[in-house]
Amino acid sequence: MLSLLVSATVTLVNGATSVVPAPPPPTPAPSTGASLPSVGSVARDYSPAGWESLWNLVGPVQSPPITTTVDPVLPDVLPSPPPALYPSWFAPQPADIFPNLTLPSGFLFGVSTAAYQVEGAVKEDGKGPTSWDWASRQPGVMVDGSTADITDLQYYLYKLDVARMVSLGINAHSFSISWARIYPFGAADSPVNQAGLDHYSNLIDYHLEMGIKPVATLFHWDTPLALVAYYGGFLGPQIVDDFVNYAKTVFAAYKGRVTTWYTFNEPRVFCAELGIYPFNTSLPIGVNSTQAPFICSYYVVKAHVAAVKAFREMGMPGEIAYKNDDFVGPPWRANSTDDIEAVERHAAFQIGVFSDPVYTTGDWPPIMKETLPPSFLPRFTPEEIAENKGTADFYAIDDYRDQWLAAPLDGLAACVNNTSHPLWPQCNQLMLYDSNAGWSAGPNPDPDSASWLQSTPQNFRYSLQQLQARWPTNKLYISEYGFDEAYEVDRTELYLITEDVTRTNYYMTYLGEALLSIHNDGIPLMGAFAWSIVDNAEWNYGFNAKFGIQYLNHTTLTRTPKRSAYALSQFFAAHLQKNDTVLP
Ligand code: NOJ
Repeated sequence: MLSLLVSATVTLVNGATSVVPAPPPPTPAPSTGASLPSVGSVARDYSPAGWESLWNLVGPVQSPPITTTVDPVLPDVLPSPPPALYPSWFAPQPADIFPNLTLPSGFLFGVSTAAYQVEGAVKEDGKGPTSWDWASRQPGVMVDGSTADITDLQYYLYKLDVARMVSLGINAHSFSISWARIYPFGAADSPVNQAGLDHYSNLIDYHLEMGIKPVATLFHWDTPLALVAYYGGFLGPQIVDDFVNYAKTVFAAYKGRVTTWYTFNEPRVFCAELGIYPFNTSLPIGVNSTQAPFICSYYVVKAHVAAVKAFREMGMPGEIAYKNDDFVGPPWRANSTDDIEAVERHAAFQIGVFSDPVYTTGDWPPIMKETLPPSFLPRFTPEEIAENKGTADFYAIDDYRDQWLAAPLDGLAACVNNTSHPLWPQCNQLMLYDSNAGWSAGPNPDPDSASWLQSTPQNFRYSLQQLQARWPTNKLYISEYGFDEAYEVDRTELYLITEDVTRTNYYMTYLGEALLSIHNDGIPLMGAFAWSIVDNAEWNYGFNAKFGIQYLNHTTLTRTPKRSAYALSQFFAAHLQKNDTVLP
C-alpha cells in the first residue's frame, strides 16, 4: 500500500504533491445522528458489540482514503517562497522586525493542533466515539454540514506534517491525544487499546527523530462518548478517576519522551460548551444549562489537580500545566467605573476561574463566589484548596486577541443581581470597536466564522503584563495564537488563498510585540505556538474557518504553505538563537 502511494504521487501546482490515490471516495452528505439516550441509561458493555453500539449512537462515518502511515520524501522541499511584500514604513520584512532583539535560548517556535480537528480516521484502530463525533451530526450544529471524519488525515499523514515543520524551521508541535483512542470506553475499568498507545508512541518517536519537540495535551474537548452516556462526562464526579486513570496510562507510556504536558485545553471554553446545544441535550438529572459550565469547571479543576499529583508521584521528567484562554483587556471607556469593574468580572470568570485555584489562592475568584451559589459553583473544601495550589509548573495562554471590555450597556447594577439578565452571571462584554468614534479594534476576521477575533497587537503587551501581575509565573507560553483570514473560504484559486496578508501581518505584529514583552517588560515568554500548521476542522464552523498557515486541498489532502508560513519561518530564523536545541 505504501509503495503504491508513493509511486502514485502527482506533482501539482506550486510543487506540492498529492498524497492520496485519485480519485478519492465521494464525500457523502453527513448523516444526521440521533440524540443521546438519557444519561445513565446506556449499560457498560466493553465488548466489540458494545463498541459498535456506541458508534451506532453517532451513525455511519466516512472511511479514510488510505489506512497506512505515509512516509514523506525527504528532505521536504518547500515550494518557492513568495516575493517580499512591498515594504512600507510600518511593515518591515520578517527579519527586520527589531533585528537587534533575539529570543531567549530554548524558545519554542511552535505550531499547535488538536486530535479531533486534524486526525480524521475516527473509527480506525479501535478508537471509540467522542462527544464531537456525535455532536457534529446533530441537526443544525455544523454550519457547513461537514464532519471531521477525514479532515487532514493527520492520523496517517503525521510524518508529512512533521517533515514540513522541519523545512519551515519549526522546533515544537503541540498536539493532543485522543482519550478515546487509548480507552475506547473511557472508563478506568475498561480495556486499554494498544493500537492507540502505539500510534502516539510512533508519532512521538518520529517528532524526536526529526528534531521537533513533542508537546502533548491530554484533553482537547473530545470526551469519550461512552462517559457522556454513562454519567454525563464532565458533569459527573466519576470523571475525575477516569481521567486520572487515562492520564497515568499515557504518562507511563511516554515518560521521558514528552517533557511538556498540558492536562486540559481551554477548559473554560470546553465547560461553556456543555451549557449549549447540542451538549445541553444530554445533561444528567439535576443539572441545567446555566449550571453546567460551572459544575464542569469544578470537576475539571479536580481532574487537573489529581493528574498533576499523579505526574509528580510518578517522577515524570518535565513540566505540566493547562492551556488557559482569553485575555484581560483594557476598559472600553477608560473613566467608567462600571467598565473597570467589568474588566475584573471578565478576569475572574474567563481566566481566574481556572487560574486562581492553581496559581494563587487555591480557590475560586471571590467575584464568582459572590455571584454564584454552591448549587451552580460547588465550593472547594479547605483540603481541596490546599491540594489545588501550585499544581502547574508554568503558565500557558491561548492569546488570540486582546480587545476592550465593557459593562452591560444598561449598567452593571442591572445585571449582577438579576439572573434573567442576558449577560448574567458574567455581566461584562467584549467590545470590538472603540468608545469614541466606533473604529474597529483591529483588522477583522472572517465575519461568518470567528466574530470573536480581531488582530489587536496594540494590546498584546498590556494583556501579558496583566497576566503576569495577576498570576505570576517563571515561564509563559503563548500556547496558541492565530488568525482566521476574512473571506479566505470564498477564494478558489491557489494564488488567492496563499496570499494571506492579514494573517501574515497578524503574526508579524504579535511577534514584534512579543520581543518587546520579553526585552522591555520582563515577561518570561519562552514559546509561541501558531494555530495551526494546516487548515482543519474548526468545531461547528467545520472548514469554513481557515486558521492554517498551510492550505488543505480536501481532494488530494495536499498541504500548501501560505505567505504566513514563510513569514513565520523567516522571523524565527532571524530571531532564534543560533544552534539552539529544544529537545530533552
Ligand atoms: C482555540 C482552540 O483550542 C482550538 O481548538 C481552535 O481551533 C482555535 N482556538 C481557533 O478557534
